[in-house]
Amino acid sequence: MSYYALVPAAGSGARMGGETPKQYLPLAGRPLIWHSLATLCAVPAITRVFVVLAPDDRWWPETEMNALGPKLSVLRCGGELRALSVANGLRAMTGMLSDIDNDWVLVHDAARPCLTVAQVENLITEVADDNAGGLLAVPVADTLKRAHDSSRVLETVPREGLWQAQTPQMFRHHLLLDGLDFAPQVTDEASAVEALGLSPRLVMSDVTNLKVTYPLDLQLAEWILANRRAV
Ligand code: CTP
Ligand code: MG
Repeated sequence: MSYYALVPAAGSGARMGGETPKQYLPLAGRPLIWHSLATLCAVPAITRVFVVLAPDDRWWPETEMNALGPKLSVLRCGGELRALSVANGLRAMTGMLSDIDNDWVLVHDAARPCLTVAQVENLITEVADDNAGGLLAVPVADTLKRAHDSSRVLETVPREGLWQAQTPQMFRHHLLLDGLDFAPQVTDEASAVEALGLSPRLVMSDVTNLKVTYPLDLQLAEWILANRRAV
């Protein structure tokens, strides 16, 4: 049984704006995606890290990324939706698995550059041999409102029991592929596994593992990385 990482990086970063996809924007002196990949490559339990690029990606910095070492493999099979990029990546890596029935895949957004090795190791430890798999997540702290138009409250949604899903999300390779075949429109891997009737485990994370979506998030990520190094 082995652990593999799969990093979807075929998005265009529409909410960030600009021509360069957000995963290639500079962050703490490196392309943003470098940080996400460097962390995964540094986890001893992870055998290989697959990154899924758009077929026409022209930003991938080959030389800089090669320096991350032999664990990293590039797959140019990104799709129109995130779920399609993940499903294509899972299929492309099938031949490289060591044990098709038991191997785990940790899917991680390229756009979460502040992930730490400790967070990944905690996920692996907590999920252990749970066949439903699991994901990093944080309990919702704010009071939530549902809007009925862009700026008026329709109702307050009780936050009890609500969590924000992060990545990595880890599942057995074959289970995740089955889930994504069954529910191809999902926005995270856990939803695909839930669609099969399973209950993935929620593993406590924290807000520093943020997804860089808007320009301000880039500044937050920069701050998190800089202050972590200083500790
Ligand atoms: N992703 C992907 N293939 C897609 C869409 C997204 O591999 N068709 C990846 C992104 O590159 C990112 C991760 O999935 O690493 C999370 O997606 P998101 O934050 O939504 O990134 P984008 O889709 O690029 O951003 P936006 O939704 O603002 O366009
Ligand atoms: Mg998106």
